[in-house]
Amino acid sequence: MRMRRKPWVREELAKCEFFVDNPCENLGNWENKFKKKQPIHLELGCGKGIFIAKLACLHQNINYLAVDIKSEVLGIAKRNIEAEYLKNNKPIDNILITAQEIGLIQNMLNEKDVVDRIYINFCNPWPKPRHNKRRLTYTTQLEKYKVFLKPQGEIYFKTDDDDLFNASQKYLKECRFEIVKITYDLHSEDIEENIITEHEEMFSKQGIKIKALIARK
Ligand SMILES: C[S@@+](CC[C@H](N)C(=O)[O-])C[C@H]1O[C@@H](n2cnc3c(N)ncnc32)[C@H](O)[C@@H]1O
Repeated sequence: MRMRRKPWVREELAKCEFFVDNPCENLGNWENKFKKKQPIHLELGCGKGIFIAKLACLHQNINYLAVDIKSEVLGIAKRNIEAEYLKNNKPIDNILITAQEIGLIQNMLNEKDVVDRIYINFCNPWPKPRHNKRRLTYTTQLEKYKVFLKPQGEIYFKTDDDDLFNASQKYLKECRFEIVKITYDLHSEDIEENIITEHEEMFSKQGIKIKALIARK
């Protein structure tokens, strides 16, 4: 996703109370970075933050940490989060956003940062075999997540991409995750809560079925 430079982003994020500038400085200490002591759920590749804004606003008893590599999209996520909380008249006290290369997630989260759940929504499929290892669900990544994901903690994964979905099941099994739920057509299922992400909406409109799974450590 290419995005034009937005001159307002740097200044707005610098002033934003829920933007964390230097994520690696909080290694092992994320629990104390949040205003409330409660379970932490992590979103990897949050994009414009539509998903995490709605989710976090709905579940005030969970702390949400949203990560993306691009400050430009985090600027938009910041505005979307503010708008969602304002609409629902809630204080923004259970969400943090930060810029980090997820390939180096081990520099910002370690075994002291107990994460109960990880969301990965519509990550880049990296279809060329030589690029597969860059997938956010690749085995080397999963091994890094296992360090801070609590025992029985879960990964919630959604994608439009068949190849990525099938390969991810293999990666998860190789890393000893148990796949506890799986669907090849999420929108045909009767599920309690599915918050639609930016890319989910785009792919659904194109008639592409959304694949989803929950994997347990
Ligand atoms: C295709 S978008 C999906 C955005 C959103 N999750 C959704 O479902 O609409 C992937 C997002 O992941 C981010 N991303 C991709 N690779 C990343 C990496 N290695 N580290 C951090 N963020 C990454 C991109 O900047 C982008 O915002």
